[in-house]
Amino acid sequence: MAELTTHTGGGPALDAATLAKDFPLLSRKVNGRPITYLDSAASSQRPSAVLDAMREYDETTHANVHRGVYGIAEEATRRFEAARTNVGRFIGAPAPSREVVFTKNATEALNLVAHSWGRSNLERGDVVVLTEMEHHANIVPWHMLAAERGIELRWLPIDDDGQLVLDDLDAVLDGAKVLAVTCMSNVLGTLNPVAELAARAHAAGALVVADACQAVPHLPTDVSALGVDLLAFSAHKMLGPTGIGVLWGREELLQSMPPFLGGGEMILDVRKDGFTPNDIPWRFEAGTPPITEAVGLGVAVDYLRAVGMDAVRAHEISLTSYALDALRDRFGADIRIFGPQAAEDRGGVLSFAFRDVHPHDISQILDEYGVCVRAGHHCAKPLMRRLGVNATARASFALYNDERDVDTLVEALDAAGKFFG
Ligand code: ALA
Repeated sequence: MAELTTHTGGGPALDAATLAKDFPLLSRKVNGRPITYLDSAASSQRPSAVLDAMREYDETTHANVHRGVYGIAEEATRRFEAARTNVGRFIGAPAPSREVVFTKNATEALNLVAHSWGRSNLERGDVVVLTEMEHHANIVPWHMLAAERGIELRWLPIDDDGQLVLDDLDAVLDGAKVLAVTCMSNVLGTLNPVAELAARAHAAGALVVADACQAVPHLPTDVSALGVDLLAFSAHKMLGPTGIGVLWGREELLQSMPPFLGGGEMILDVRKDGFTPNDIPWRFEAGTPPITEAVGLGVAVDYLRAVGMDAVRAHEISLTSYALDALRDRFGADIRIFGPQAAEDRGGVLSFAFRDVHPHDISQILDEYGVCVRAGHHCAKPLMRRLGVNATARASFALYNDERDVDTLVEALDAAGKFFG
């Protein structure tokens, strides 16, 4: 891995340009220009260490896990379970080998919660509280349960700065069985006060389900400090591969939950008259799991840990601050940047409207300059409606972005402005 530098502010700072050399894709060109990848909130790039580890595992060790008693099968199982423990330690799990469930992605993790915990604990009239800034993966499973069970969905609103309005929190939580909340908005970058929300929800008797897809890759995360009960995130937004996500849950809670999907490793015994589910976490891992991907995720965690999550956060505050200033200075009233206006209050996600140019048109013009941003509703349609837009353009950062990427974005946006007159 590339060397880290030290800055005068105390802890280790990261040198994004040096780190970027670890990511093969970032050396390619797009439309004849060096790529400026600003879509890590959708999916981050992977360092060679992750790609190499997955290839090495596939070429030397692959066999199915938890089944064979021959050498490479046992080694594959050991590496798969080591990845689980590593991921658990990374988020401060008290029992890392038992509390981390590997899923297909974060969406599946949240569906698992609604299906397993929700179906066995929620009845007609029960209340689930969501926020207006959730993305669809933390809305639709609850809608599906509402349709099936007749539960009520309540919504915590946001203000015009993209912050949750908590004035009526206790009233909204009154009688609630679940609070499902994102740690960081994938559109606004808003960082929610999850620990405070969790304490208030618990006081009201509600379970707390956190969507940490945008938080785990960018902030130090400690599930005990957050005080949540369940927490979901994806590997592919944290320098790891697609095809694997994580559900962390408190040990006793997972222990109380029935299986989600049936078959494969999730049973202890199957008879003609029924089955006995496996212990946690395997109870929730039906079928052959994403083994190569778990190996890759484990190495992604090692990479982030080596860089240091405090350094990642400090870098992204600095870069977001630079980007906010640069965009406002250059475009003034022509640009509307959604979400909290101070970099310290948000993650490295900048959704914006630029004059009356459609976000898809912006994205296409930016692509001509090698700049990759996401345009659309970002899987957060209720939030789009709250903002009064159909779509936004969104630039999002990771540890490999630096100020030159922001400068390129500004120049390309300027060109887009001239193109559309
Ligand atoms: N993956 C989605 C995003 O781009 C939710 O934010």
